[in-house]
Amino acid sequence: MKIVHSIDEVRAEIRKSKIAGKRIGLVPTMGYLHKGHISLVSIAKENSDFIVMSIFVNKLQFNDINDFNKYPKDIEQDIIAADSGGVDLLFIPDDSEMYQNNLTTVNVGILTGNLCGAHRPGHFEGVFTVVSKLFNIVQPDVAVFGQKDIQQAVTIEKMVYDLNFPIHIIIAPIVRESSGLAMSSRNKHLSEKHRSDALVLNKSLNECKKMIDSGYVDVKDITNTMQSIIESGSPDKIDYISIVGYSDLSHINTIEEKSIVAVAAFWGSTRLIDNMIIDKDDSGFLCIY
Ligand code: PAJ
Repeated sequence: MKIVHSIDEVRAEIRKSKIAGKRIGLVPTMGYLHKGHISLVSIAKENSDFIVMSIFVNKLQFNDINDFNKYPKDIEQDIIAADSGGVDLLFIPDDSEMYQNNLTTVNVGILTGNLCGAHRPGHFEGVFTVVSKLFNIVQPDVAVFGQKDIQQAVTIEKMVYDLNFPIHIIIAPIVRESSGLAMSSRNKHLSEKHRSDALVLNKSLNECKKMIDSGYVDVKDITNTMQSIIESGSPDKIDYISIVGYSDLSHINTIEEKSIVAVAAFWGSTRLIDNMIIDKDDSGFLCIY
């Protein structure tokens, strides 16, 4: 695995790989890698030949400066994990390499009005700006994002379509601890008690699946039940328990088509999110989480 810090070095490596006929796969991250990140690398490897991972804690997407300042970092460990996960090129830029007099930002309007977008002003603009920059720097054929951040992944799909990026976006399944807790770099901040209390997020999705399997489609009924389950884990704050349509992420009253059930809550100052996609085929609803 080669490690580079500048955009010019990335471009030189990509040029060589493209001349050799390789398809480029990109996995953007903010580091403090866990098995969820590495699963994206495996999926990128199934769909391309030369894997670029970026590690950049993108200040522009942090609406809370404390969250940015305490974002966990362990670059030595990340290098080992990326290398053994099969990354070919690890791009670790610093702030000045990524943002020199940056005036342009990317906004995907309506899709970011609900869910995390409603609670983290400016967050998604920061995400889409850095992801667009990474797309232009790396020019990948394929880029992999996690279902874990479903609003991010769905909106990036839309951005790629709208702005004609010639990139195939893959949304990868959520990797969980054996307890059911979705893996996240921020889990490091959880106390043992909060880590166990936070299992109610996954439990509420399990219950949602059961309700859907037994024919419930009324969003209020389902979210009320999910709320009591989440409250039983004594979160410090619930940001949202929402069911939205997959295509435009707008709130729905009844589950009829492909939808997303998404939850976000705080334990202490740590904000955790989880979600489930409800897909639909001829035999009925299929819950993916
Ligand atoms: P980060 O939180 O580091 O996540 C990088 C990628 O890993 C994202 O696509 C995220 O959805 C995915 N991921 C995180 N936890 C996962 C899990 N448990 N299972 C599967 N995939 C998981 O998301 C970001 O960074 C940033 O917003 C970024 C896209 C890099 C832009 O700065």
